[in-house]
Amino acid sequence: MATTAEPRAGRLDDLQKLVALCKRRGFVFPSAEIYGGFANTYDYGPLGVLLKNNVRDAWVRTNIQRRDDIDLIDAALITSPKVWVASGHVSEFNDPLVQCLGECKNRYRADQIDTTRCPNCGGPLDAPRMFNTMFKTQVGPVEDEESIAYLPPETAQGIFVNFANVASTMRRKLPFGIAQIRKSFRNEITPGNFVFRTLEFEQMEIEYFVEPGTDEESFEYWVGERERWYIDLGVRRENLRRFEHPADKLSHYSKRTVDIEYRFPFGEGWGELEGIANRSKGPDNSSWDLWQHEQSSGQRLTLFDEEKKQHIRPGVVEPAAGLTRAALTFLIDAYDEEVIDATKTDVRTVLHLHPALAPYKACVLPQYRNKPDLVRVARGVYEELRRRWMIAYDSGSNIGKLYRRQDEIGTPYCITIDFQSLEDNKVTIRDRDSMDQSRFGRVPIEELRGWLDSHLDY
Ligand code: GAP
Repeated sequence: MATTAEPRAGRLDDLQKLVALCKRRGFVFPSAEIYGGFANTYDYGPLGVLLKNNVRDAWVRTNIQRRDDIDLIDAALITSPKVWVASGHVSEFNDPLVQCLGECKNRYRADQIDTTRCPNCGGPLDAPRMFNTMFKTQVGPVEDEESIAYLPPETAQGIFVNFANVASTMRRKLPFGIAQIRKSFRNEITPGNFVFRTLEFEQMEIEYFVEPGTDEESFEYWVGERERWYIDLGVRRENLRRFEHPADKLSHYSKRTVDIEYRFPFGEGWGELEGIANRSKGPDNSSWDLWQHEQSSGQRLTLFDEEKKQHIRPGVVEPAAGLTRAALTFLIDAYDEEVIDATKTDVRTVLHLHPALAPYKACVLPQYRNKPDLVRVARGVYEELRRRWMIAYDSGSNIGKLYRRQDEIGTPYCITIDFQSLEDNKVTIRDRDSMDQSRFGRVPIEELRGWLDSHLDY
């Protein structure tokens, strides 16, 4: 595995610094900005898309590619509304809403404020009312009760309704998992804190089906696995903790839920990064959701146990990660402002992103942009390397500024072509975290692919 970022003391104290960087460097833009934006919606720019793709790829590598027991599916977003009735989302996916009766008329989630007065203007609040956070839409030309469909608030139901299809086509035996990565939608009314809480977001979920009665054991395993994934990708352990949901606050399908929380630089600090739920609340510790869908559809959602000669409805454990929330977390944890000189006038902004997550794996730079021989060699190196990785090329400024530009977007290595390269066919490689330009020695151009391969291996 590639080295993770070097130990660092820095901590992002103000989210707005990251929001500004994300806009300045093309990670995330406010949505419909030219119209003044739209609450809790954001657009991902060129670097944001690369980062998100890398988060997704790292998750797929760990949970699909390097395991024998989990398959990935991609179910339709808009599907039969019966799915959401059976899953309990139509009746249960509600948030308690209160509105300010004073001047500002703001709305709040009653469970997220601990006051009877409006936190904004101090006015009185009305009594909590429940509202369903699923977005409704309509299928077909006529708008009536029959045409209602829902945008999915989680990816999980697409998995449960395909349980039998996947189990039989992939000839699965317990334990095995089905995973899905796609968008989910929630009518969130509370302030989002940048992309932490948005109306649409991407999730990476696994439903891991187990022999009934082994769900608790599997649950413990998955909490550990998922925590380790973030740490392996560079998130500092001290910024992570586990939060056990109290029994009286569990979702309608859950026997037990533990959140992996991250210390965010807003609100009360600790906030949910990923939830791991034991959804085995059905009869005999079986999957609550499979049970519900069996009852509603009349179809059997079980596996046949050849030894016991009986149909078994498995238990299920669900590690549910937010892709976009994970991307935000990686950015926050990687962000640093480092004082470079003793006079404290030179401060560099750097993203210590794990190389697997960095939008660009390296940047190729000619030392002088107006020297055609240097540019020719640099372009050649760039063309060769980008056959394999996302590589940046930059020649627009002096070399020191170029390095800093790459630091700010998390590029782990800068490959510089200088006059000596024309003589010895070798390059210098600058390391983002240490800023050291000599630790790797001069690397022959013909060995660069192998060099990067070993340093980017994850
Ligand atoms: N299937 C279970 C489920 O959806 P959840 O805890 O509601 O569980 C899982 O969501 C993860 O999805 C959260 O831990 C978070 O990372 C992400 N998530 C949930 N709501 C979100 C929102 N409005 N914006 C961004 N991410 C969100």
